[in-house]
Amino acid sequence: MAAKIAAIVLAGGRGTRSGGDLPKQYKELQGEPVILPSLRLFLEHPQVSLVQPVIHPDDQDRFAKATSGLDLPAPVMGGATRQDSVRAGLQALEPLEPDFVLVHDSARPFATLALVDRALAAVKASGAAIPALPVTDTVKEVDAQERVRRTIDRTTLRLIQTPQAFAFLSLLNAHRRAAQEGKHDFTDDAALAEWAGFSVTAFAGDADNVKLTTPEDFVKAASAHAALQDDIRTGIGFDVHAFGEGDHVVLGGIRIAHDRGLKGHSDADVVLHAMVDALLGALCDGDIGAHFPPSDPQWRGASSDRFLQFAIERVKARGGTVAHLDTTIVCEAPKIGPHRDAMRKRIADIAGISLDRVGVKATTSEGLGFTGRGEGIAAYATATIRIRRNVGDAE
Ligand code: CTP
Ligand code: MG
Repeated sequence: MAAKIAAIVLAGGRGTRSGGDLPKQYKELQGEPVILPSLRLFLEHPQVSLVQPVIHPDDQDRFAKATSGLDLPAPVMGGATRQDSVRAGLQALEPLEPDFVLVHDSARPFATLALVDRALAAVKASGAAIPALPVTDTVKEVDAQERVRRTIDRTTLRLIQTPQAFAFLSLLNAHRRAAQEGKHDFTDDAALAEWAGFSVTAFAGDADNVKLTTPEDFVKAASAHAALQDDIRTGIGFDVHAFGEGDHVVLGGIRIAHDRGLKGHSDADVVLHAMVDALLGALCDGDIGAHFPPSDPQWRGASSDRFLQFAIERVKARGGTVAHLDTTIVCEAPKIGPHRDAMRKRIADIAGISLDRVGVKATTSEGLGFTGRGEGIAAYATATIRIRRNVGDAE
């Protein structure tokens, strides 16, 4: 049987060194709260089946707002120190009997699926594994007056990150023992595991997996990320569905009562279909029919949110973000105006982007052509995305 793997995402701190009123895990980076990428990372990882957030009791509303729409268990309340917060997370997971647990700081939003893969491979082999980077600068020890005492051999030194991975019960027991013995200040789980006498193995960390600590870290991370996403592209999409029997149409993810329905294999949402093609076009990644063949019965009656989410995931997989989605709907009826804002909100929610990045417009075709004759509805869409330039691409 495959091992059961849990992940604890730690967000119980106050982020005092990052300045401002908002704890750092809820500050915005790349248009979303810092905590989100870590949660999404573990939710998406195929081997991780439990994701347990640990938060500060004062942040319950912030957490709910930041994570609306994610399929997560109720957050566990953290404690006074990082170690206490981890223990709270481990105790919440105990009844679910995971074999292994990954402990990750939500203040590290750049961890990747590949890093989690390495953590899992290493923990399965050794029982306790931590991501490590070699030290490249020369390291010296100084006294209280900043006078150099000695130079330390850096070849055996490592900088340690998260996610750290452990056999679940050993880590839980070690945490319980430490708390019983009045020890609450281990700054990472490996330090506690070392104290408890486990052997801990290092595996290759990731230099991009930085911990956001100071305001400067946020500025650096934002500009580094924006600089990487300098490949800006626009795609176009178009879709038509014919009217048939029915009492409603679905446009932009919104159900609108109408005296006819739209014929189609899925829910016939021309707006979302045109947007999916626009996104795939921007990625040069085929079209909606290539990814969701109409011949495949699993897409019959499918809600088109899934197609749009799929296209958004393809953008994210290229290290990208969606800057803008726009559509023009062409029909004589139903009237779109009264539904425009609901559609924009729904599209923004599905795509995980802000409302001011979604345009919805409509026009009649002045009685001309198939839309003018009321035979169907057409939609045009554009998508503007920012993706990472592939190394080796021609400039
Ligand atoms: N953490 C936690 N519970 C605590 C303290 C810290 O869950 N009582 C979490 C933080 O939310 C963070 C991680 O542990 O994800 C690493 O801690 P750190 O970077 O020090 O974050 P903060 O303690 O929030 O920041 P600061 O030390 O600047 O106040
Ligand atoms: Mg701290």
